[in-house]
Amino acid sequence: MSSSPWYQTAIFYELYVRAFQDSNGDGHGDLRGVIERMDYLANLGIDCIWLLPTYPSPLVDDGYDIADYYNVHPDYGDLQDYRDLIEAAHARGIRVIADLVMNHTSDQHPWFQASRRRVEPFTDFYVWSDTDEKYSDARIIFLDTESSNWAWDELRGQYYWHRFYSQQPDLNFDNPAVQQEMLDIARFWLDMGLDGFRADAVPYLFEREGTNCENLPETHAYLKRLRAFVDAHYPQALLLCEANQWPEDVRAYFGGDPNDPAAPGDEFHMCFHFPVMPRLYMALRRGDRSPVVQIMERTPAIPPNCQWCTFLRNHDELTLEMVTEVERQWMWTQYAPEPRMRLNLGIRRRLAPLLDNDRRKIELMNSLLFTLPGAPILYYGDEIGMGDNIWLPDRMGVRTPMQWDDSANAGFSSANKTYAPVIDDPVFGYQRVNVAAQQADPDSLYHVIRRFITVYKAQPALALGELRFLEHPNPSLLGFERVYNDQRLLCLHNLSDSPIELSTPAAHDLLTGADLPPGSLTLPPYGHRWLALSAPDATRQRAQRTVR
Ligand code: NOJ
Repeated sequence: MSSSPWYQTAIFYELYVRAFQDSNGDGHGDLRGVIERMDYLANLGIDCIWLLPTYPSPLVDDGYDIADYYNVHPDYGDLQDYRDLIEAAHARGIRVIADLVMNHTSDQHPWFQASRRRVEPFTDFYVWSDTDEKYSDARIIFLDTESSNWAWDELRGQYYWHRFYSQQPDLNFDNPAVQQEMLDIARFWLDMGLDGFRADAVPYLFEREGTNCENLPETHAYLKRLRAFVDAHYPQALLLCEANQWPEDVRAYFGGDPNDPAAPGDEFHMCFHFPVMPRLYMALRRGDRSPVVQIMERTPAIPPNCQWCTFLRNHDELTLEMVTEVERQWMWTQYAPEPRMRLNLGIRRRLAPLLDNDRRKIELMNSLLFTLPGAPILYYGDEIGMGDNIWLPDRMGVRTPMQWDDSANAGFSSANKTYAPVIDDPVFGYQRVNVAAQQADPDSLYHVIRRFITVYKAQPALALGELRFLEHPNPSLLGFERVYNDQRLLCLHNLSDSPIELSTPAAHDLLTGADLPPGSLTLPPYGHRWLALSAPDATRQRAQRTVR
């Protein structure tokens, strides 16, 4: 076993509580429902659950608009349920992290209501201004709904700053009291036993004139303070950074010393690798590895105590912010042919529909998720290839009820009406796509993902190994080695619909358990292979052990 920190080798599962399991028949998934399904997660083999926001909220942004940081939305249960959920997870060796939304609150939060009335000490809790001309270099993120980052408040007679919906006023991090509040909130949840946070929208904490108000030095300084606080009191806790930025800008969120590769990170333990995600889809559709190779080569080294987080899909639109304008248009044409499939600068579809529900492509992309550097995050439902519903508003089409079985409401709820309709179409409907059916079928996608998880956990090179791309005349071959101590793994992906012939040394196939003699190997269309190279001997013996 390696002695690396737990998060460096962990597999994450992103879970939307409202969608997972309804325990009380009100049509909304809840915390007790997650507890009921904990054995499913343990069985799947994931190491850490990431809970989407469960705080009281008017749900304008589905919980990312928080009205009370110290409680649970009544749809989801209460604080005791939350404690019980953490306990149930821990009892199975699973950790739990949750969203921490620092940048903004709901406009219904009592702080904002007091600030509107200039009630102390909340007067300066938000970013108020007499004009809406300040910080004009900051981009608008929710382009489809917002035309300005400023909104007028009649009561206070001033504008307030918001980077997302106008119902989500940004907190004023120049105010020391706001800074302290966030540390207190972190303490509350970590004291309850939570294992860390996915920190939402961190690039935007501070604003400064003449900048784009992203990634400012003041923001990094505060985030380092948060980390120091966490390290001092909760040394096992994880801070995972959501910064949808280019790799060189994200590098700063790990902290440490960019000129000294051995210096430990002192900001976030982990950061999402946003730019690699759309490039996986690009590479697949073009049958050309170069977008992936280029972005990985552009990715700076990170401190030794840090790790990237990678994902194929999540609860938001598939973001196209980190591609060029030409690439974005191309991605929309290829993957979002209908206007309803587009949202802001992205695509609101799930993994399986994006990939034409083609099992080979779904497995190929998951194989890349598990073999490229970075801890994989699975989005609930993608392990069974769930579909989406583009007719639902905002991002709700990728947040539909989990499909457990072919009974009414997919086994998710006994209610007459669920918070969103269960997917019920001829291809992705719960009658066809559900956990029970896939668990019973050894050839299902569920079992492939489970196998990926098992092998991943047995092969530290996949989490910790160095990445070395294979040079091959066929651009459709995305092959690379992951090298860690005496372990050398060769991961092969065929991005095209024609077979690729290549010669390989003697190897052990980690997914099938077969021993391969040196010679020629045919990678079928959209095929993938994970090979442990036989030399040195130790590698071979370990590889054979782990596939049992
Ligand atoms: C990122 C979250 O993933 C998204 O769902 C949310 O709308 C914004 N941050 C604002 O909190």
